[in-house]
Amino acid sequence: MSNLVSVAIHLFRETLESFLAGRFPENARVLPQSARKFTNFRPKWYGRSLKKTRLMTVHPDFCMRKLSMDELDRLSVEEFKAAEKFPYSVLLDDVRSLNNVGSVFRTSDAFRVSTVYLGGITGTPPHRDITKTALGADESVHWEHVPDAVGFCKDLKAKGVRIVAVEQAEASVGLPDFQPEPGGEYVFVFGNEVFGVNDKIIEIADLCLEIPQYGTKHSLNIAVTVGIVCWDFVHKRLAAKE
Ligand SMILES: C[S@@+](CC[C@H](N)C(=O)[O-])C[C@H]1O[C@@H](n2cnc3c(N)ncnc32)[C@H](O)[C@@H]1O
Repeated sequence: MSNLVSVAIHLFRETLESFLAGRFPENARVLPQSARKFTNFRPKWYGRSLKKTRLMTVHPDFCMRKLSMDELDRLSVEEFKAAEKFPYSVLLDDVRSLNNVGSVFRTSDAFRVSTVYLGGITGTPPHRDITKTALGADESVHWEHVPDAVGFCKDLKAKGVRIVAVEQAEASVGLPDFQPEPGGEYVFVFGNEVFGVNDKIIEIADLCLEIPQYGTKHSLNIAVTVGIVCWDFVHKRLAAKE
């Protein structure tokens, strides 16, 4: 008799399990109270059953909440300056907008760029409009003004630094296909909002890197481009180390 009961329980569990597995995939989220009214999800009932029958693992998102500034545990400006950087720099070639420059500083802080080179007419700190978007990263990130960006690139190239013109160009390499060389040092050159990267830099560059786009606009904002390229570089380098 007790055998029959346990078989019946087992069958019931199996049936319930497959029913719920269909309805709630493995990573289904237990929704916060505020979102529950938009669903027919019944967390209490399922919560109890799930625990007993291992029908669904509760996704870590169950505990989602925003982290406080303290919990983010960022470096101080001094710690950042002393910290090891990734082996790459950013060169802004005649970038007009100071807000873009500030934004590039903020990104360069996040992705530990060695140096931000401000070429030609690109504005330099201290400036209110740079600080507005840099949010203080113009204090942490090392930068230099480079009056002649073309000559500067030639010098770097002679020292073995890879010059990468980030531009939509003939024979460009798509960002997904770009693999940084292990041990290689790079400078990524980004161009003016209207005219793009100087043709003379494109001529001497080791490669042109292009971010594929799928919409109607011809190009991305330059600061957005810097964010994408820096994130990609850092993660490819880190992945190569693993
Ligand atoms: C607004 S775009 C310049 C306009 C465009 N290159 C032109 O000549 O018409 C400013 C800079 O952002 C970068 N950029 C924007 N979209 C890009 C993309 N899809 N791939 C690579 N770089 C891009 C380049 O560095 C470019 O020089």
